[in-house]
Amino acid sequence: MKVSWHGQSCVQIKTSDHQIIIDPFISENPLSDLKVEEVKCDIIILTHGHADHIGDTEALANQNDALIVANVEIADYFAAKGLKTHGMQPGGGHQFDWGYVRLTPAIHGSAYEIDGKPFTLGLACGVIFSDGNHSIYHAGDTALFSDMQLIANRFEIDLAFVPIGDNYTMDPIDAAQAVKFVKAKHAVPIHYNTFPLNEQNPDDFAKELPAGEAKILAVGENFDLSTIQ
Ligand code: NI
Ligand code: MN
Repeated sequence: MKVSWHGQSCVQIKTSDHQIIIDPFISENPLSDLKVEEVKCDIIILTHGHADHIGDTEALANQNDALIVANVEIADYFAAKGLKTHGMQPGGGHQFDWGYVRLTPAIHGSAYEIDGKPFTLGLACGVIFSDGNHSIYHAGDTALFSDMQLIANRFEIDLAFVPIGDNYTMDPIDAAQAVKFVKAKHAVPIHYNTFPLNEQNPDDFAKELPAGEAKILAVGENFDLSTIQ
């Protein structure tokens, strides 16, 4: 499988026969290189309800007839709009015919504005995705917490996406510790340099990890997991 990062927490995954997008924050994302109308996806996976993660989910789901996978509360919100959804909760996994998804805990909020008022849409989550050959961990927005170590007991994480932006999430030092906790072979810093409040130097993350472990991706850059042993 190939993955690419598109600013903030937006990650595209291409498996042998499916296109998945996590947290499709595109039209309001100053870093995004994508155009909503051109994005093809079969599946949309959401970590939590914040606008910089739900982003353009509704438009993408409509134009692609895509399945939305999210916590039950977000899934119910989109199901009420007539979209295809699959609700889960942190700690639960499901084997789909296109891959395995598990939602993991994250320490963070999940409010979304509906008709001008904020509503909390369930718990914030991280995501583990496996295509059967490789596994990725997308931490969502979260604080560092020691139970991240338990992920390594069950999953061999080839690539972790971890937020480094500080203020709302981990900073580069905590994010590097998270990568050590989950024993990821490689890690991509995300959720930084989008807005003044998450300005960070990704080198401050990379230098906390063994040489070559951090993969600092440019916006739109691909990483091919088949290159990982
Ligand atoms: Ni958030
Ligand atoms: Mn966020």
